[in-house]
Amino acid sequence: MSLSFKLVLTAPASLETPLLALVLPADATLTDALAPLDAPLHGALARTLARRDFRGGRDETVLLVGGDAGVQRLLLVGRGSTPLTRTTARRAAAIAARQAAKLGMGTMHLWLPDADAAAIEGLVVGAAAGSWSYPDLQTPPPEKDRRARLTQVGVIGADLPGLQGALNAGVAIAEGQAIAKRLGQMPGNYCTPQTFVDLGQEIAQRHGMTLTVLGRAEMAAAQMGSFLCVAQGTSQEPRLVALEHRGGPADQQPIVLIGKGLCFDTGGISIKPAPEMEWMKFDMMGAAGVMGAMEAIGRLQLPVNVVGIIGSTTNMPSGEAVKPGDVVRASNGKTIEIINTDAEGRLVLADLLVYAKQFNPAVAIDAATLTGAIVIGLGHHAVGVFGPDRAVVDEVLAAGSAAGEPGWPLPMWEEYREQIKSDVADIKNTGGRAAGSITAALFLQEFVDGYPWVHLDVAGTAYSQSDLGWIPKGPTGTPVGTIVEFVRARAGR
Ligand code: BES
Ligand code: MN
Ligand code: ZN
Repeated sequence: MSLSFKLVLTAPASLETPLLALVLPADATLTDALAPLDAPLHGALARTLARRDFRGGRDETVLLVGGDAGVQRLLLVGRGSTPLTRTTARRAAAIAARQAAKLGMGTMHLWLPDADAAAIEGLVVGAAAGSWSYPDLQTPPPEKDRRARLTQVGVIGADLPGLQGALNAGVAIAEGQAIAKRLGQMPGNYCTPQTFVDLGQEIAQRHGMTLTVLGRAEMAAAQMGSFLCVAQGTSQEPRLVALEHRGGPADQQPIVLIGKGLCFDTGGISIKPAPEMEWMKFDMMGAAGVMGAMEAIGRLQLPVNVVGIIGSTTNMPSGEAVKPGDVVRASNGKTIEIINTDAEGRLVLADLLVYAKQFNPAVAIDAATLTGAIVIGLGHHAVGVFGPDRAVVDEVLAAGSAAGEPGWPLPMWEEYREQIKSDVADIKNTGGRAAGSITAALFLQEFVDGYPWVHLDVAGTAYSQSDLGWIPKGPTGTPVGTIVEFVRARAGR
């Protein structure tokens, strides 16, 4: 992340800053706290509020131009009439950061009067989200047209215990999200399974985690015929990467995180149509979310054991590729009839779920851009949440809403299981169009052996095809927030 944050205790009116973004609720008036800003602006703030040229609606902004010293520009940012939460603070800060970037500000200050620790954390996460970009593959424009990049944000806080910790927590989460978003935006020829190995090495080194890497030969030895059949059509080495964060007591059962990491999904022999196939570079956002969450967990030094496991490959057609009708055997011995080679994510996850068992999980959460059906069912605003145990599902839903990544539960009733019965194998890899996300979840359940488990289908939420106003179009960072909140809640932090 190219953005650095610091907690600033200076009174806002005496700041030297090119831009102060002031986050206000709906129908804000000139309070005693705001009044000192008005004099250097020659009354413009009072007039703007009194005339209701700024009403504080969500995402509303007004820029007031000051002098050459002190607060040179004041950006009013509305946060609407809903109660102040981490999520509303985050959104307002993202809007502010996007404006700052447009104005070419290298530095900005952010002030949300009466911000508590949660709001401070939200401001940091939001400012990072709003200023996120992936410029690596674009030639910079001529110097004269190039605006400064936002690199420094001062967050105005009170001299209260916990605010520095909240700022640090925000930075940890923002870093995790930045890692996930970067991977999501990287084209398939840049983000390869090896990218996850390299990143795993960095994260392991930075936070003292244990790293395990498997390739084709090791996976063959472990009889991961399900994962490996997906990798049959690519010459790239498929990778299973496991990171172990041992923050808790040695005998504590870990939270196990599992991510689908398809660096590109052509569909394989059951090839996808050409229009919009390029989006399928995002098919590793589950794995990216797990890696991003591990980075955040490491930075937060959460006192709990967590294992992150990702399975990465590329789904390609070739003369060697797996075909419809083929039967493969997963590492738990179950045979799978391949009906559609485009239902590959569940094949990768099947062997990861079996692999997870050796860690004796307290709970396992998998995240995957698993089905187009979840996009049809829930659109782009809710993560599909599945699991046989309602209590754990509720725990994940609570984490998701706290993180501003809301989820919605879907059933896993026995009745749906009929759809994935096979005539030649133990199970088949697709159950037809009806309830496609549910039959995918039921498929995964066949490989979960005796530990609590929740499945997140993030196909609709990990990537936004449109500009959301507060975050630019592209990867959203979901499910990093959900996972981190879940682990934090379990760790009591
Ligand atoms: N990665 C896709 C899921 C996906 C599809 C995400 C469209 C976002 C938009 C997954 O591997 C896939 O192709 N699923 C198939 C399953 C089907 C063949 C049973 C799908 O959803 O069409
Ligand atoms: Mn697919
Ligand atoms: Zn896929």
